[in-house]
Amino acid sequence: MAPKSLFYTLFSSLTVALAASVPQTDYDVIVVGGGPAGLSVLSGLSRVRRKTALFDSGEYRNSVTRNMHDVIGNDGTVPSEFRGKAREQISKYDTATFIDKRVSAITSIDDEATNTSYFRAQDADGQAYTARKLVLGTGLVDLLPDTPGLQEAWGKGVYWCPWCDGFEHRDQPFGILGTLPDVVGSVLEVSTLNKDIIAFVNGTDTPAYEAELSAKYPNWEAQLAAYNVRLENATIASFERLQDGGEVKDRNGTRQLDIFRVHFTNGSFVDRNAFITNYPSAQRSDLPDQLGLAMLGNKIDATTNPGMRTSLAGVFAVGDCNSDNSTNVPHAMYSGKRAAVFAHVEMAREESNAAIDKRVDVEDMIKETEKQVGDDMQRIYDRVVRR
Ligand SMILES: Cc1cc2nc3c(=O)[nH]c(=O)nc-3n(C[C@H](O)[C@H](O)[C@H](O)COP(=O)(O)OP(=O)(O)OC[C@H]3O[C@@H](n4cnc5c(N)ncnc54)[C@H](O)[C@@H]3O)c2cc1C
Ligand SMILES: *[C@@H]1O[C@H](CO)[C@@H](O)[C@H](O)[C@H]1NC(C)=O
Ligand SMILES: *[C@@H]1O[C@H](CO)[C@@H](O)[C@H](O)[C@H]1NC(C)=O
Ligand SMILES: *[C@@H]1O[C@H](CO)[C@@H](O)[C@H](O)[C@H]1NC(C)=O
Ligand SMILES: *[C@@H]1O[C@H](CO)[C@@H](O)[C@H](O)[C@H]1NC(C)=O
Ligand SMILES: *[C@@H]1O[C@H](CO)[C@@H](O)[C@H](O)[C@H]1NC(C)=O
Ligand SMILES: *[C@@H]1O[C@H](CO)[C@@H](O)[C@H](O)[C@H]1NC(C)=O
Repeated sequence: MAPKSLFYTLFSSLTVALAASVPQTDYDVIVVGGGPAGLSVLSGLSRVRRKTALFDSGEYRNSVTRNMHDVIGNDGTVPSEFRGKAREQISKYDTATFIDKRVSAITSIDDEATNTSYFRAQDADGQAYTARKLVLGTGLVDLLPDTPGLQEAWGKGVYWCPWCDGFEHRDQPFGILGTLPDVVGSVLEVSTLNKDIIAFVNGTDTPAYEAELSAKYPNWEAQLAAYNVRLENATIASFERLQDGGEVKDRNGTRQLDIFRVHFTNGSFVDRNAFITNYPSAQRSDLPDQLGLAMLGNKIDATTNPGMRTSLAGVFAVGDCNSDNSTNVPHAMYSGKRAAVFAHVEMAREESNAAIDKRVDVEDMIKETEKQVGDDMQRIYDRVVRR
């Protein structure tokens, strides 16, 4: 082969190899989750034209609630309408794709050609999709006891978050549900909303639980007395709804007048308008587990690394599922926005590095070639192959 044509052969193969130093994938980013966290990621990425697919299995933590509150500009909005409006607005960006399917598996793939890795997601029908970055906004699920009537009441007069629903039940006869050690914390949270409070501790007024509460609040008995909180230790058998506050409201509609009857196992009962709960939650999705992401408690660790990054390079976690431990819509939007910025910049850096490598290497090679063409072709060949 003549030196000149060998030079062009080397030059063009080098260009191809370097141009591919960012993996070739279907999307820049796959977002799993179509709640406020995932939607916020999609918005941020769409505004900078990152090709993004958002997967949504349609299981939203606040799906049962009547209205969403404490989200400025959207106080009282129905959550499905909020998500619908977000989708409609994001849909005008042609790099955004909504895929209303469950992601059943995700794997990280090493791309030997570019010495990088990317992600392959598989939907419930077995179809595969690839992307350079992955954002999980997969949310939490609330673990309620299977006491009859409780699941049906959830989010409609029975709630865990005073900011979400407390104002609509202000000044109403109120209940706290949970174990004895939860009671003081709940009283402090609702003290500006409710005065007539019964703590239904459901058989947990025992020496062991008292010791646990005393460790947190040494003066707990005096504190409960100061707030006039009555402890009810009877075992709860069921909740019966007597009135639906979605339909019955006060004259100007600012209070929801739910009424529940708490039945005890001994046959007696007590009526209350609303309850705050203290039940655990868990990751909705097993994808964090599949990917082996580091956890803090039961949350995906996204606080050790900046920018909502998890322990696995290229994977971000946003919204309720992450270790910010802040489980509300404003946090979901904030963390989604933040991950969108970091993911975009991370990809832009990778692209920029690839572009610089390419220019430097090619210039290098041209200089080398000019010096050596005709006398040491083999050395050039070795250099290129070594890369
Ligand atoms: C009863 C109730 C009322 C609430 N009210 C309020 C309120 O008034 N104001 C407020 O700020 N907060 C409220 N919250 C909290 C709020 O619901 C959450 O903070 C918020 O939904 C978190 O958003 P997210 O996007 O992280 O998760 P979610 O909204 O729960 O969304 C999770 C998304 O991930 C998807 N998903 C999970 N796994 C997969 C998978 N494998 N494949 C595809 N998709 C998947 C789900 O389908 C869903 O789209 C309330 C919560 C409850 C329980
Ligand atoms: C591959 O990339 C890693 C960093 O991500 C680097 O440490 C390693 O040296 C690279 N390998 C080659 C063959 O370039
Ligand atoms: C009440 O306690 C019983 C017995 O421990 C338990 O099975 C039930 O789930 C609890 N109910 C509530 C509402 O906490
Ligand atoms: C509360 O109920 C539990 C379970 O029935 C019982 O063991 C405990 O002694 C009760 N506590 C009090 C103070 O009566
Ligand atoms: C049943 O339990 C309630 C609540 O603790 C109590 O007030 C009531 O006296 C009990 N009734 C009977 C029949 O034991
Ligand atoms: C709303 O109606 C209630 C009576 O149902 C009344 O006490 C209250 O003052 C009203 N609030 C406003 C803001 O009109
Ligand atoms: C969130 O809670 C977990 C425990 O469940 C804890 O390890 C972690 O440090 C908390 N995160 C923050 C930011 O405080």
